[in-house]
Amino acid sequence: MSNKHHNNKDPETTGHSWDGIEEFNNPLPRWWLWVFYLCIIWGIGYSIAYPAWPMLTKATPGILGFSTRADVAKEIAAVDAENAAINAQLASADLTQISANAELNGYAKNAGGAVFRTWCAQCHGSGAAGAKGYPNLLDNDWLWGGDIEAIHTTIKHGIRNTEDEDARFSQMPAFGEILEPAEIEQVVNYVMSLSGDAQDPSQVAAGATVFADNCAACHAEDGTGDRTQGAPNLTDAIWLFGGDYATLTETVTNSRYGVMPSWQTRLSDAEIAAVAAYVHQLGGGEATPE
Ligand code: HEC
Ligand code: HEC
Repeated sequence: MSNKHHNNKDPETTGHSWDGIEEFNNPLPRWWLWVFYLCIIWGIGYSIAYPAWPMLTKATPGILGFSTRADVAKEIAAVDAENAAINAQLASADLTQISANAELNGYAKNAGGAVFRTWCAQCHGSGAAGAKGYPNLLDNDWLWGGDIEAIHTTIKHGIRNTEDEDARFSQMPAFGEILEPAEIEQVVNYVMSLSGDAQDPSQVAAGATVFADNCAACHAEDGTGDRTQGAPNLTDAIWLFGGDYATLTETVTNSRYGVMPSWQTRLSDAEIAAVAAYVHQLGGGEATPE
């Protein structure tokens, strides 16, 4: 207490003291208090006008009926209405004619790109370059066909899924149950030799025989694959699962079973046509066979 009289700047104390520590009496500035009261009033007004208090299942709606979700729905509906005509045109278009129609093609590529980023990128990569087991859609190497109609069919029905009876289907046997380990080693060396890098060249000749007997029915005599069965070309050094000795041995021993969902129940006809056009033009834009 005695200090107080020596120094005028010392604030008043409340008179409370704990172990000699005194509590200053510093009233809040008036402007601050008023701002504080205004905030409370504004808060009450806001929570009456807008969605605010969480209840059991949802928040109080507020008397202004404001809803960001409804706003978004309204905007989506407006965009859909604006695009209804061109979507209808896309859904019924001859797929091979889309690229010849500049307006339709421009729309298809934009809309298809948006579909791709939403529904396809998680497996095929945002740039469509794929990953192990998920094909690269940028190169012009196709398992099931690269003209727009083949791509459209692949997307519409998917691959080896159980939900769509028209899904693309084929199954490579697991040769671990069919061939001796030595034969697998031989055929793996033969497959590696097709793209010019056999691990053990002394095995290649024997591997060619194993290949002709066991693999050519699907991958073709010369190893270039068969699109009607989704059997990859084994001669182009483009690998879906991997072209090193260990990965090839695993592929031949245990087989592979790549699955893609069917999209016809998830996407509209226009969206499927759009994303087919988009993917077709990412690759080389292979022409439809006559
Ligand atoms: C859940 C993962 C997954 C999603 C999502 C997915 N795909 Fe696929 N896709 C695959 C797999 C796996 C394959 C390869 C299947 C095989 O081994 O034959 C494939 C194959 C393809 C092929 C065939 C490529 C070829 O070489 O013939 C096309 C085209 C394709 N996908 C397009 C799409 C499009 C377009 C979408 C989005 C609408 C999509 N995919 C979404 C997994 C997926
Ligand atoms: C019944 C048809 C069939 C037979 C027989 C067959 N394959 Fe396959 N093979 C396929 C299919 C289909 C795939 C693609 C599997 C997938 O995408 O999931 C494949 C994939 C592969 C791959 C993966 C290629 C890559 O890009 O990663 C290799 C390697 C391969 N086969 C080698 C062989 C060898 C070697 C034999 C003989 C020992 C053989 N296949 C016999 C149908 C067959």
